[in-house]
Amino acid sequence: MIYTKLPSYKFVLEIRQVQPQDIFSVIKIAYESLPEQYYPAVFNQFYESFPEGFLIAEQHHKIVGFIVGLKPDEEIAKVLLLSVTNDHRKKGIGTALLKRFLNAMKNQNIKKVELEVRTTNTVAIGFYKKHGFDVVDTLPNFYQNGEDAYTMKLVLRSY
Ligand SMILES: CC(C)(COP(=O)(O)OP(=O)(O)OC[C@H]1O[C@@H](n2cnc3c(N)ncnc32)[C@H](O)[C@@H]1OP(=O)(O)O)[C@@H](O)C(=O)NCCC(=O)NCCS
Repeated sequence: MIYTKLPSYKFVLEIRQVQPQDIFSVIKIAYESLPEQYYPAVFNQFYESFPEGFLIAEQHHKIVGFIVGLKPDEEIAKVLLLSVTNDHRKKGIGTALLKRFLNAMKNQNIKKVELEVRTTNTVAIGFYKKHGFDVVDTLPNFYQNGEDAYTMKLVLRSY
C-alpha cells in the first residue's frame, strides 16, 4: 500500500486501484460531478477490462476522487474520466490521481496518453496543460448536448 502525503493537505491520502466494493461510491461521485450520465454497469466494465487504469483517491476511508483510463492500443492509453468531489478540489488530489495513473501507464509500456475534454471546461484544460498535455485537435459535436471537444495528448517519456 502506497500513501501520498501532500504538502498543502493535512490528511493522508491513499491512491490505489479500485476494488469492486468501491464502485458504488465512484458512481455517486460521477453522478454528482460529471456533466455526462453513465450507466452504472459501465463502471464494472471499466474495472473488468483494465483495472490498472481505474484508480481511486481515498481519505479516512472515504473516496474523494477517481480516474478511469483504457488501453485501446499497445502503446496508447486514454483518460476517460477524472473527478474529484467538489469539497476536495484544489488540494492536489487530481494531480495525485493523474501522476499515479501516468506511472501505471509507463509500467504498461504506454508511450502516449490521450483524452477528450469539453472546449468550455477551462479548469480541466488548465489542469491537463499544467501536467504537460497539449491540445492537438478539435472534435465538433463530440458530446451528447452538441458541445465540442479538444483532444489533448501527452508523450509519456517527457512527463
Ligand atoms: C479537473 C479536476 C479533476 C482537478 O482536480 P483538483 O484536485 O482540483 O486539481 P489539483 O488541485 O491537483 O490542481 C492542479 C492544477 O490544476 C489547475 N486547477 C485546478 N483547479 C483549478 C481551478 N478551479 N481554477 C484554475 N485552475 C485550476 C491549477 O493549475 C492547479 O495547480 P495549482 O494548485 O498549483 O494552482 C477537478 O476540477 C474536477 O473534478 N473537475 C470536474 C470534473 C472534470 O472536469 N474532469 C475532467 C474532465 S473528464
